Amino acid sequence: MSIRLMNEPGVPAMYPEDLGADPGRSATVPAAAPDSTSMSSAAAPAAPYPRSAPCSQPASYPRSATYPRPASEAEIRELAALPLDELKALARKTADAVHGDRVLLRGLIEVTNHCAMDCLYCGIRRSNSGAVRYRLSHEELAETIRAGRRAGFMTFVLQGGEDPALAGEGLLRLTETARAAAGPEAAITLSFGIRSRREYEELRAAGADRYLMRFETSDPELHRYLRGGISLKRRLKALEDVRAAGLQLGSGFMTGLPGETDETLIQNILLAQSLKMEMGGVGPFIPHPETPLGGARGGDLERSIRATALLRLAVPLCHIPATTAAGTIHPEGREQMLEAGANVLMPNITPVLHKKHYLLYPGKICIDESGFQCVGCLSVRVMGRGLRLSWERGDAL
Ligand code: 5AD
Ligand code: FES
Repeated sequence: MSIRLMNEPGVPAMYPEDLGADPGRSATVPAAAPDSTSMSSAAAPAAPYPRSAPCSQPASYPRSATYPRPASEAEIRELAALPLDELKALARKTADAVHGDRVLLRGLIEVTNHCAMDCLYCGIRRSNSGAVRYRLSHEELAETIRAGRRAGFMTFVLQGGEDPALAGEGLLRLTETARAAAGPEAAITLSFGIRSRREYEELRAAGADRYLMRFETSDPELHRYLRGGISLKRRLKALEDVRAAGLQLGSGFMTGLPGETDETLIQNILLAQSLKMEMGGVGPFIPHPETPLGGARGGDLERSIRATALLRLAVPLCHIPATTAAGTIHPEGREQMLEAGANVLMPNITPVLHKKHYLLYPGKICIDESGFQCVGCLSVRVMGRGLRLSWERGDAL
C-alpha cells in the first residue's frame, strides 16, 4: 500500500499552533522537552512554585528527526483494514521516529476508590457495595511519592474515582501535598474525572501539570448509556476546560465495549485526533462481575492493539501507555502495545495494602508486587522488544 506518513516537502507539520506560535516553524523535534508553562493559557493562574526548573535528565529526542504527519481520515480507514502485523510495523516506525527507543516510566498512584458515579462498566461504581473502599491519607501519598522520587520517577499519575471527599478543596489540598513531596522538578498528573474549569485552574496553580480523562467512547448514545446519563458533550466540555486551564491533556477510550462497532473505533481515533491530545490511553473493556455488564463480552486483545497502532498513526506525538488492562487479558498484552507504537509504561506504585481494592475490572495484574518490583520486570520486558526504559519527565511534545 502507498500510505506515506513522514513529512515530505509541501506536507504541513502537525499542529503548528501547538508547537509554537510561529506558523512558519519547521517540523523539527525541539531540542528539549518543552516546559509545561508553554501549555498555559493567559487565563491560568500563576503557579506558586518554580515551573521553569530544568529537567535534570538529558533531552534526548532526536534533534534532526522529522515529525511524521498525522494520518488523514481516508488513511486511517485504509490503515484500519491492514493485516495486524503490517499495521503494527507502520505504527512502531512512527513511534521510533518521534519517541525513539525510549519507554517513559510514570508512577501510578491510585489515591481513592470512592466514587459518586455509577458507570455501568466500572468495578468501583457507587452501586458496587462489594467494593472495599479506601482513600490514601496525605502522609501515605507523600511517602509514596517520596519513595517514587528516590527510585527515579519523574512523573506521578494520581488517579481516583469521583470521591465526594475530594470535591473542591479536598483535591486541591491533596495536590499541594503531592507537589511538596514531589519537589519542583517532577511532573504531577491528575485523573479525577469531571470538574469545573475554575477547579482545573486551581489544580494547576496548586501544582498539577497534566490531567487525564478518557472520553471512553465517541458514540454519544453508548456514552450516555454506559455513564449513567452523562453526555459525551459534557465530557468533551470538561476536556476543553482542562486544556483552557493550561494543563497538558490526556484522554482515550476502551475497546470492545458492548454495542461498539468498527465504525466506533474509527470515530474514537478521529475524536482523539481532533482533541489533539498529548497523552492517550487505550485498553480493552474487561467485564467486572459485580456490575450490570458483568455478563457482557469483553474486548479482545487484537482490537486494542489495532486501536493503539491507529492512535499512534493519527496522533504521532501523543504519549501512549501500554496499559495494564492489555496486560491483564494477555500475558504479553503490554509488549504488543509497545510493538504497536506505545511509548509509556505506568508501574502501579500504590501501597500494596490498598492496590487489591482498586479493581475497575477483575484479574488486574501486579497487585501483589510493589510498583518498584515491576520496574525490574518491565525493564526485561522492554529490552526483549529492543526498547529501553527512560526516567525522563516526558512532557507533551
Ligand atoms: N474494563 C477496562 N477498563 C476499564 N476502565 C474502567 N472500567 C473498566 C473495565 N471494566 C477504564 C476506563 C477509565 C479508566 C481509568 O479505566 O477507561 O477511564
Ligand atoms: Fe508488574 Fe511484571 S510488570 S510484575
